[in-house]
Amino acid sequence: MTTHDTVFGSRRDILRLAAGTAALLAAMPLKALAAGGPVKIGTIGAGHIGSTLGAIWAKAGHQVMFSSRHPEELKGLVEGLGGKAQAGTVADAVTFGEAVLIAVPYRAMPEIGQDFATQLAAKALVLDASNPIPARDGEVATKAREMGPGLYTAQLLPGARLVRAFNAIGYMRLAEVAKHQGGGIGMPMAGDDPGALALASELVREAGLEPVVIGKLAAGKYLIPGTPLAGEHSPDEIRKIAATLK
Ligand SMILES: NC(=O)c1ccc[n+]([C@@H]2O[C@H](COP(=O)([O-])OP(=O)(O)OC[C@H]3O[C@@H](n4cnc5c(N)ncnc54)[C@H](OP(=O)(O)O)[C@@H]3O)[C@@H](O)[C@H]2O)c1
Repeated sequence: MTTHDTVFGSRRDILRLAAGTAALLAAMPLKALAAGGPVKIGTIGAGHIGSTLGAIWAKAGHQVMFSSRHPEELKGLVEGLGGKAQAGTVADAVTFGEAVLIAVPYRAMPEIGQDFATQLAAKALVLDASNPIPARDGEVATKAREMGPGLYTAQLLPGARLVRAFNAIGYMRLAEVAKHQGGGIGMPMAGDDPGALALASELVREAGLEPVVIGKLAAGKYLIPGTPLAGEHSPDEIRKIAATLK
């Protein structure tokens, strides 16, 4: 495997995987994935983690629309990133994205589900970096922790090709790792949809991390701060830790 290989193998393997999956063939954004070309990414949330990840991906050549309920406040962010970045409302970013990153305090998730579940179900990837923190987010976070945030978000966003990732690495460290690349740090991820996982793996790699799929969405309960997988581990360490969690 070269450093450009994913957890699924080489890019050719990804193409084979895509070719063998009818649902993926029907998904327009696969064109971009198959070509290894730029993907249109919308971010719901452009705070610490949303702005950091969006900036990384804009610099990697993707088109990114950051969103805020006050998009005028994102002027400085997008101007600093040149032509690949723009700002809009949450609805604008959801419409724009072939892939959508959700990086919000978890208490916002029910409202996002109410407003955008139908649109999000049509995306190639919905990447959820959000964490349920009861002290910050209240009762919805307690419930999400009981069920596991992967499955809870899936309940709020039925049909979405969800992947949990980037949940337990700080945004400043993320920016540093992306700048230097090649640090041998793994990113544990969980999801049910092979195409979404493949695309998420590409985006993880572009952030200078090595994707490690630890399981289906149910395993998302291990992808929150405070669990053994939180913080930084090598891909091998992640696999070993994940094996003890099953
Ligand atoms: N900070 C980290 O290093 C880090 C690392 C991994 C995971 N996380 C997780 O990622 C999530 C975001 O963390 P953060 O540190 O980036 O938070 P943050 O800096 O406070 O940013 C939160 C973002 O969420 C948006 N937002 C809040 N309520 C919303 C709603 N109802 N609809 C749409 N957008 C809404 C805000 O947009 P407005 O401009 O509209 O207010 C803001 O852009 C959290 O769940 C956190 O636990 C954080």
